Amino acid sequence: MPTKQKTNRSAHGGPGEKIKVLITRDRIHRRILEIAKQIREDFPQEPLLLIGVLKGAVFFLSDLARGIPGEVSLDFIAVSSYGKDTKTSGQVRLTKDLDASIEGRTVIVVEDILDTGMTLQYLLRILEQRKPKRLRVAVLLDKPERRIAAVQADYVGFSIPNEFVVGFGLDYAERYRNLQGVGVLILKPQDKAPKPDK
Ligand code: PRP
Repeated sequence: MPTKQKTNRSAHGGPGEKIKVLITRDRIHRRILEIAKQIREDFPQEPLLLIGVLKGAVFFLSDLARGIPGEVSLDFIAVSSYGKDTKTSGQVRLTKDLDASIEGRTVIVVEDILDTGMTLQYLLRILEQRKPKRLRVAVLLDKPERRIAAVQADYVGFSIPNEFVVGFGLDYAERYRNLQGVGVLILKPQDKAPKPDK
C-alpha cells in the first residue's frame, strides 16, 4: 500500500508534488492492444471472463477488454489489507466478491500493478478453489524487484524499476488515478518521500 500522507489537495496535486512521466499514454495504449491480441491468439475460441481488481485496474481493464475481439465478459473483485504491514504480512481480505461463478470458465485476472505479489497470491488461491477452466493474470506494470510472494503474471505491460508510480489507475492517497500516462511521483524535499511500493 502507498504510505498515506497528508498532502494539500488540488486538481493537479498538492503543491510540491511533481510527476515525472515514465510511460506515455500512447505507449500504454499500444502495449495494451498487443496484449489484447496476444490473449485472443492464446484462446482463439473461448469466451473470456476478465476480472478487474478494484480500483487500480479499471482503466487497464477497460482498454484491454475493448481490445480483445470475440466474446468477453467482465466482473470485479476488491481486496483490502489488514494493518499497514499488509504487504509483508500477506494479510489480504476480500471486500467485494464476484457477481457470478467462475467454474469452468477461462478467467483472466486484471491488475494495474504486481508489486510484492501478496494480493495476487491471495486472489489466485481463492479463485483456484472455484474451479475455473483456466486462470491467467494480466498486469499493466510489474515491479519484479519488490516481489515477496512467488507469483508471476502471464501478460505484463511494462516491467518497471522500484519507484513510486501513479496514473492510469494508480493512486497516491486516492489521487492521480486519472492521469493518462504513468509517472513517478516526486515530492519536494521537506515532504517525506512515499515508500516506493507502487
Ligand atoms: C494495488 C494494486 C494491487 C496491489 C499490488 O492495490 O492494484 O492490487 O496493490 O500490490 P502487491 O503486489 O504488493 O500486493 P491497492 O491496495 O493500492 O488498491 P487500489 O487498487 O484500490 O489502488
